[in-house]
Amino acid sequence: VKRILTGITTSGTPHLGNYAGAIRPAIEASRQPGSESFYFLADYHSLIKTSDPERVQRSTLEIAATWLAAGLDTDRVWFYRQSDIPEIPELTWLLTCNAGKGLLNRAHAYKAAVDKNVADGEDPDAGVNMGLFMYPVLMAADILMFKAHSVPVGRDQIQHIEMARDIAARFNHQYGEHFTLPEAAIDESVATLPGLDGRKMSKSYDNTIPLFASSAVMKKAIASIVTDSRAPGEPKETEGSALFQLYQAFSTPAEAAAMRDAFAAGIAWGEAKQALFERIEAAVAPMRERYETLIAQPALIEEKLHEGAAKARAIATPFLAEIRHAVGLRRLD
Ligand code: TYM
Repeated sequence: VKRILTGITTSGTPHLGNYAGAIRPAIEASRQPGSESFYFLADYHSLIKTSDPERVQRSTLEIAATWLAAGLDTDRVWFYRQSDIPEIPELTWLLTCNAGKGLLNRAHAYKAAVDKNVADGEDPDAGVNMGLFMYPVLMAADILMFKAHSVPVGRDQIQHIEMARDIAARFNHQYGEHFTLPEAAIDESVATLPGLDGRKMSKSYDNTIPLFASSAVMKKAIASIVTDSRAPGEPKETEGSALFQLYQAFSTPAEAAAMRDAFAAGIAWGEAKQALFERIEAAVAPMRERYETLIAQPALIEEKLHEGAAKARAIATPFLAEIRHAVGLRRLD
């Protein structure tokens, strides 16, 4: 069997980038015969980004409801909340003691924070918590715990998965072959979905389009996507166009090809935006209805997460016993 695993940090409202980059491909992959899928809410990771308990709670509910509304089948998929699996932080420690500090020094997110401080003339570590530094080790524990082969993610997570591989290989070398080496599964066409301003869609750039915004809000957001000033009738470039990339992410190859022709023929921006709105609406509207129903039933979601955690721990507990044994903490017998 092929094991697939991915997680989303519970620090915000799910956006089109999370959906196209991770949720949609993960759900498609989970339907393949011969696959076992592990999809989870990365709530320990959220504490690195926010210290607002309300936000973590709300986001956990929203992201769980999003997975379910998007069609995740909890009978087939191991669907759980990271913090319900105490074996994960324990494995994190066991990996920490064997992971090179030099490796973690090179992590993009940590390095970007330090570089920014230096550029601003601040202390290099100002405002940097140890969670940010350790982020890739926690993520390695998430992945290695369930022996995932394939990790569907957007491009921004590739380095983390490579680090998980490095950490696993180093541990295996030291203690024997316990961990499976994971690989990122990237769908190139949506690996970096652009946001309103053309940069990567990201909570930190404040350029996101929420997946389940109302039609009216969605329409307004789409109207504000940055374009160049070419007039109707003037040929438009698809290369580097956020509008086109978003269109492509929510349409069939044939529809995207037709839009490419329309760009060349000089479609007006307003018309292209209307077409994008219609594509996204068509994809999102049926899910939105399920989402609204689910989000109003936190107890049901909680129940599903508890069931998922029990299923996941049935794998994690014995595997962690094996790892404890491997490093000399416990005998198995
Ligand atoms: P997070 O919560 O930032 O993002 C969740 C997923 O959405 C993808 N994504 C995008 N894809 C395409 N275009 C975009 N603009 C875009 N923005 C976000 C991300 O690449 C990601 O796949 N560290 C992870 C969560 C995590 C995890 C894991 C993932 C924790 N443990 C183990 C995989 C395996 C994160 O913060 O993703």
